[in-house]
This record gives sequence, structure tokens and C-alpha cells, in this order.
Amino acid sequence: MIERALLISHLAGFVLLLLDPFCEFLWLRRQGTAREKATSTRVLWVFNRIAPYGYVLLVVSGGFMVARGWDLTSPWILGGFAGYAVVAVAPVLLVRPRGERAERRKAYVGLAGRFGALMFISYAMVLKPSWTVLAWAVAAFAVGSALLATAATGPRPGRRLAARVVFLTAAVVAVSLWRWQASILPPSYAPSGHSGHAGTAGMRSVTDLTQPPTDAPVVPVALTAEVKRVEIGGTAKDAWTYNGTVPGPALRVAVGQRLRVTLNNRLPEPTTIHWHGVLVPNADDGVAGVTQDAVPPGGQGVYDFVATHPGTYWYHSHANPWAQIERGLFGTLVVTPAADAGAAVPAGQDHVIALHSWGGAQAFNDSTRPEPIAATPGQPVRLRFVNTGSARQRLSISGAPFTVAAFDSGPVHGAQPLGASRVDVAGSGRVDLLTTLAAGQELDVEAGGTTLRVVTPGSRLAVPPAKDFRLLDAMAYGSPAGTTPLPPPDRSWNLRIDESMGFFDGRLTPLYRINGTLFPNGEMLMVEQGKTYDLTFDNHSDDDHPMHLHGHLFQVMKVNGKAGTGSPLIVDNVNVGPHDKVTIRFTADNPGIWMAHCHNLPHAAAGMDLMVGYEGVTSPFRAGRDTVNRPE
Ligand code: C2O
Ligand code: CU
Repeated sequence: MIERALLISHLAGFVLLLLDPFCEFLWLRRQGTAREKATSTRVLWVFNRIAPYGYVLLVVSGGFMVARGWDLTSPWILGGFAGYAVVAVAPVLLVRPRGERAERRKAYVGLAGRFGALMFISYAMVLKPSWTVLAWAVAAFAVGSALLATAATGPRPGRRLAARVVFLTAAVVAVSLWRWQASILPPSYAPSGHSGHAGTAGMRSVTDLTQPPTDAPVVPVALTAEVKRVEIGGTAKDAWTYNGTVPGPALRVAVGQRLRVTLNNRLPEPTTIHWHGVLVPNADDGVAGVTQDAVPPGGQGVYDFVATHPGTYWYHSHANPWAQIERGLFGTLVVTPAADAGAAVPAGQDHVIALHSWGGAQAFNDSTRPEPIAATPGQPVRLRFVNTGSARQRLSISGAPFTVAAFDSGPVHGAQPLGASRVDVAGSGRVDLLTTLAAGQELDVEAGGTTLRVVTPGSRLAVPPAKDFRLLDAMAYGSPAGTTPLPPPDRSWNLRIDESMGFFDGRLTPLYRINGTLFPNGEMLMVEQGKTYDLTFDNHSDDDHPMHLHGHLFQVMKVNGKAGTGSPLIVDNVNVGPHDKVTIRFTADNPGIWMAHCHNLPHAAAGMDLMVGYEGVTSPFRAGRDTVNRPE
């Protein structure tokens, strides 16, 4: 019923708008003739006043249609749109305006400008509410109307023009207000959708998906989130910290150990901890409003899980994360191979470096001028870089041969030694470098203008010219030999990412939509335990999107149609470059409700998030302004 009313209003809007030029010309033509005073001319005049409201009908009904899941970009609708334009132009050509040739031409151009502007603005506002588009359309409309007005021989063209401009301005303001209002999120919503109720037969709540009993040795850790004055790169700031430092304590456990973290919140805001990339049980994932209620100021929370997978990870707040991480709520976590596996890298030569930029100054951990690291010649050194920022980092590595030992927590098989290289690390991604230096050799790693030196006695910094650096293609590095491919997918999703300008929760911001929707309006991707899934991120925007999936590892299968030729790239984050198309594959092996989102935090905070939910799992938590939870 509503659907039909919307469709009828939308079509009526079209018809009004399309009849507008015809009536306008007919009216113009009758000026100064015997029929100027006829009733039908008056009717035309009245119609001319009304027709532009077709624009309002078109935009408002279109907006509601998009909100209800209509795809106004479907060929069916766009084809109809083109058809209507033809139908509209034909009568105009028949009813030619009178007057000099130049005058007539002016009338045509004016009409085209105005007609095009109205059509364009309608669709642009519905599909891609961008202020640039709006500005162009307003300009085209104004110029078009002015030309039409001077071509007219009718009474007081100036007043007609003024009325049109006032009308258009009012429409623009009304539409903006409406879109602003419509963008405001409800005071409380369920980010995890409504897929049933815990308690119904076979349903499990995320709160039950905790660490199963085990006799693994417990490593207790206490993290206090508190505001502390810290100094980074020569500037002091009141940071939000874990235990008073930024980054927070560098945690290190071995595979098989059980991490039990107590979080004390001494911040003025609710907070949580998310274990980025770690395959935790869902209840310990730390997403406010999805797997827990955020810990209120003065409150305490516990995270408890066994480390199962060696690698470089990090932890950060997942409550209002854009603000909280940028203020300093992050730290690193390294899971070393099982204690009895015999460490290949001596403890003193295994370093973890958080890359974060502070007001444009690139910090390596807490310093923008890191002290050189002294290495013992002949002994392996491991450098674990963690990009805790939103933007991609490009490491420039030179001085000695090295290998990339891991991307995120995924080890590289058959890693070939590299010379001077650039290695990209997506926002939230990690890269582990391995080298063994001879006496007098050093390895230099530069990012964002800051250089870290790994030195041996007598070594010196000698960076080769830029042209000597090769950009590493992670999809072609290492060797696939001896790895087992994932089974073909049981289901695939295509996720189209596009970009526009508009309102999100009442705030004017660039918007990055996934399949035309903004979080929390998107659909939850439903998966079943044990099955395999493909996700294709189809980026139609001009930005990088570091896409991250919680609770799972995935393999990057294809980048722009090309399959990998190296060691399978198994990660928890992949950078989807501008206009790139990237397919990932994962097996659903960790039940729960998991967030998948862009780790460029301003993007995530403007709706670039979705949920992957297992059949039969529900969440009792809610998010929104009336709750303590802001997951994105
Ligand atoms: Cu670093 Cu939602 O994650
Ligand atoms: Cu993004």
C-alpha cells in the first residue's frame, strides 16, 4: 500500500516536471496574441506555478523509496527516466517559442538548463546527496531561468525569475532539513538486528559464547583506562591511556596461555577493549552494544581468553572508537609460539612498534625520534609494525636484506629475501619483518618521515635513492607450496562501496555506503558454522578502505580479478584501494555476532560498518544515544 503510494507520487512528480517545459513554452507562445487572455492560458499559468513542486514530490518520495530498499539506480528506473526525458522534449520542439532566432535559442538553452537541473537535482539528492551537486544544480537552474525569463515576452520576467529562485532555495532548505532529520539515529537500536530471541529453542546469546573451561595457565593483566598527561614528539597532551602510557602496555603471551584482563574505567566516558585480530570467543570481543554493554566510568570489566594463534595484534577501545583511539586508547599484543616451540628470535631482538601519527608527527611507539635498536650481529631480529592509525602507512625499508615474516597474524610461507623495498600496512594492519645483520650492517625503516634504525657496531645510515625501492605486492610474495587452499564458497556477497556527502546521525560528513546503506541500516550477513563465504568489496569511491572482520582470519583471494600467486595472504584486514575490487574468503568457525567494518575510523563512524551473524545467535545489547553504547 505505502509502496504503491510512493511509486505513484514518484511518477506523478515525474509527469509534473516533464509537462513543465511544454506548458512553459505554450504559455510563452501565447503572450501578445489573441489567446493571451483565454482561460486555457490561465490554466497554463497556474500549472506553471505548480509544476516545479513535482520536484519536491520526486525527491521526498524517492528518499522514502530508497530508505525502504528500492534501488533507484536499477536500469528499469533509469531507463524510464531517459524515456521520460524524450517524451518531454518532443512537445517542446513542436510548440516552438516565437520571436527572433536568437531569442528562441535563448529559450531553448534556458529551458534545457532548468529542466536538466531539476531532473539532476532530484536524482542527485535522492541517490547521492552531495553539496557540490546541489550547488551546480542551483547555478544551472538560476542561469536557465534567467535565460528563459529574458526570452519571454510575458509580463515582468524579473518577478517570475525571482519567484523561481525563492522557490528553489526554499526547496533546497526543506530537502536539507528533511535529510538531516531523517539521518538521526533512533535513541536506541539493536546493531545486531533481530534474528530471534535467546531462550527460544536452539538460540544462544552472545553472552554465553565465552572461553570454555581449560587448565591453561592464567596470565593476569590489569589495565586502567585513565586520562594522563603524556608527551609525544615534544608536545604534551591530555591523552586517554591504558595504565598512563600511549601506547598502553605492550602485552606478550605465549600460545596456550590464558589472558585474563581486568579493565578499570577511570575515564569520563564508557569504554571497552577489543582484541584486534585475535580469535577470541565472541563474548570477549569488546564491541559496545553488540557483545557487551560498555564499562561505565568507575566500572570494571573482564576479558578472558586463551591465545591460540601466534602473531602480532593490538588492542583498542571499541566504544566511540574514533574519538577514544585517537586520544590514545590502544596498545600492542604479541602472541609468541608455544613456550616449548623454541624461539627462533632471541627475546631481546623481538620488537613491536606501534605506528601512530600525532597531529601530523609520525610516532614509533611513544617517540617521533626513536632511539636506534642495537642488534647482535648474526642473530635474527624481528620487527613487528602495528598501524594503529586510520590511514595506510608505507614503510621504506633498506640497508640490509630482510624478509616479511607475516602480514597481520598470517605467516608468509617461502618468504624471499628483499632488497630496498616499500611495504604497505593498511590502517589497523600489521607487518612483521625479519632480518639477520652482519657486523657493520644496519636495517632502516622509514614511515611518514620518521626513521627507525636497527644498528650493529660500526653501522651507519645510508638510504638509497627513491628509484631503488620496489613496492612489495603482498599477493605475489612468498610461495603457495605446502599450503591448503580453502574450499569454494557456499555463498558470496558483493559489497558495493560508494561515497557521497550528507548527513549521518545529524552530522554533515562524507558518507561511505555499503550497498547503498549506512550502519545500522544494512542487513546482517547471516552465516552458518562450518561453511565458507566470499565477500567482494567493490570500491566505487576515491578512498582507501581498510576492511576488517572481527573474530576470523580471511584469505585475500583476488584483487581486481587477479588471484594471488604467492603465499596465501591470510589476514584480518585488507586495504581496498580506490576503485579496487577485492574478494576475501573465510570459514565460519567462531560462532557469534561479529562486526565487519572499515578501520578508517571516521569512515566507520559515518556508517561504514556491518555485522556478520551466525544463525541461532542473538545479542541482548543495544546501542544509541539512550544507551551507554557506541560501537562504531
Ligand atoms: Cu580494530 Cu572493529 O576493530
Ligand atoms: Cu573506509
